[in-house]
Amino acid sequence: MTPTLTPHSDVDLFADPVLEDPYPTYRTLRDLGGAVHLARLDAWALTRYDAVRGALGDWQTFSSSAVALNEPVNEMLVGTVLAADPPEHDVLRSVLADRLGPRAVRSLQADIATRAEALVEEVVARGEFDAVTDLAAAFPFAVVFDLIGLPDDARPNMLRWADATFNVCGPMNDRTAGGLLVVQEMFEWVATLKAGDLLDGSMGRAIFEAAEAGRIRPESCIPLLAAYATAGMDTTINAIANAVHLFAQHPDQWDLVRADPALLPGAFNEVLRFDAPVQVFGRRTTRVVDVEGTEIPADSQVLLLYGSGNRDERHYADPDRFDVTRAPVDHLTFGYGTHGCAGQALARLEAHAVLGALAARVHRLHVGEPKRHLNNVLRGIESLQVHGVELDR
Ligand code: HEM
Repeated sequence: MTPTLTPHSDVDLFADPVLEDPYPTYRTLRDLGGAVHLARLDAWALTRYDAVRGALGDWQTFSSSAVALNEPVNEMLVGTVLAADPPEHDVLRSVLADRLGPRAVRSLQADIATRAEALVEEVVARGEFDAVTDLAAAFPFAVVFDLIGLPDDARPNMLRWADATFNVCGPMNDRTAGGLLVVQEMFEWVATLKAGDLLDGSMGRAIFEAAEAGRIRPESCIPLLAAYATAGMDTTINAIANAVHLFAQHPDQWDLVRADPALLPGAFNEVLRFDAPVQVFGRRTTRVVDVEGTEIPADSQVLLLYGSGNRDERHYADPDRFDVTRAPVDHLTFGYGTHGCAGQALARLEAHAVLGALAARVHRLHVGEPKRHLNNVLRGIESLQVHGVELDR
């Protein structure tokens, strides 16, 4: 039983209209409290910046054993870096960190910049294109696919698999149920992979080499490979898609970035704060814990609402305003602490390359209405038609 004075809500955070625009609902929840009991899920939403950040920094209390919001998927995720707590987590993570750390990623910079410029040149020359499928999705897909060194037969399925992997991290609703079969299909395919199937020198091959060297157990190879493949694509795709959409909506902000390219890293942080590609992941409390005056029982499912924390007026002034000069380095979009995104250096590199190449050429993009892509966890766009491009002047 939840005491009546406990902040609580009947809202379905995963209903289509809320996913279309979750921000008014987030504000209502934040006004109720930093921790709000969600009756439909019998779970606790952490809504305010300090509450989300505090939980991210305390893995001993907020365990990743319930990173998904349903038990079948939490069982499926056992052994993955995302769902493991230290010390197991740190061993798995060290294998990924070798290849995703800032120094390793810096060596990719020239190649990624060249690829971004070629793609931007090509779509811009067409004059009309889909900013999501032709640009925002095409680029990270190609980059990450090659870096992991996956065999070509996965190409037609990879984005469908990645999307489903995020969907099934939601509560057990229709989207999750629909995604489960797709995820199973992906795991069956990944399980057939052997070291020799992955390109020599690739990130994927390095995982198998870590197992051969005894750094990780052989059974960890498949979950790590799946983590790379899914975490590295849809997230960056949605980030770039959201960026193009926001800059098309706010030409004054685009003009600022174009006038001073040094603003780009901060502007991308503002894109990430404004529309976090990953809106929510879960945790499980290991003990009774007080969050901003609300007591959450032990063994409770918790939702970390990154997207709500990023719009918390207690932390960011005028949070619903998209302002590239804000440069919010402390946003919650990559998480924080133990599970803070392992791929953020790569994501930034990719996004800066694409947005930088666009900024160097394009004065205005004229776009239609975006078609939102609804996913339990991700916030992104399925399609954004560009009807016209005004080149540099
Ligand atoms: C804009 C793009 C991205 C966003 C918004 C994003 C978001 C996140 C978030 C929120 C987490 C933390 C999960 C938690 O708190 O439990 C995370 C973890 C992770 N991300 Fe990213 N990510 C992005 C790009 C990437 C890329 C490009 C890769 C790899 C190629 C990647 C690999 C990972 C991995 C392996 C983890 C698990 C880390 C751990 O559990 O220790 N991500 N990401």
